[in-house]
Amino acid sequence: MICRKMNFLDLDFVIEIQNELGFQNWNKKQFESELASPLSHPLVLILNDKIIGYMFLQVIDEEAELLSIAIKSGYEKKGAGSFLWKEGVSSLKEKNVRSVFLEVRENNITAQLFYKKHGFINIGIRKHYYSDGENALLFRLDF
Ligand SMILES: CC(C)(COP(=O)(O)OP(=O)(O)OC[C@H]1O[C@@H](n2cnc3c(N)ncnc32)[C@H](O)[C@@H]1OP(=O)(O)O)[C@@H](O)C(=O)NCCC(=O)NCCS
Repeated sequence: MICRKMNFLDLDFVIEIQNELGFQNWNKKQFESELASPLSHPLVLILNDKIIGYMFLQVIDEEAELLSIAIKSGYEKKGAGSFLWKEGVSSLKEKNVRSVFLEVRENNITAQLFYKKHGFINIGIRKHYYSDGENALLFRLDF
């Protein structure tokens, strides 16, 4: 498995992963603008020349936000997400980031367990944060 910076040619594969998993519904324009943002730190995870995961981090000074992380269905629960996250952590530390924040759907228990395993703690709730009315849990990790 290797990790590299995402580029525009990767987007169709990334969007396919998102749509298969159905956890988020960014359209292509949203992906493109995130990819073009100077604050963005987007990574793809590759296995046997195939993109099997991606992650979008946004960095502002000493704080980062984990916007999304996803592992293609069929490749989950084998350590791929952890590998991708650890690669992200290395680059965040190189950028002198000290804290990472994220929001996660209250019913996304798998992701919450993943984040807790990697040291995140739940620091609050944002009521009706998502457009369908679901609450978001706010998580934080300090390095
Ligand atoms: C969250 C996600 C990225 C984790 O990736 P992954 O490759 O499956 O994770 P790993 O194999 O590295 O698992 C690490 C830990 O996460 C937790 N975890 C992952 N999948 C789990 C599952 N199905 N049930 C319970 N815990 C799970 C466990 O704590 C696991 O540690 P363990 O193996 O010691 O039990 C993946 O499930 C995913 O893509 N989910 C859909 C997209 C999503 O919801 N993203 C988060 C919101 S942006």
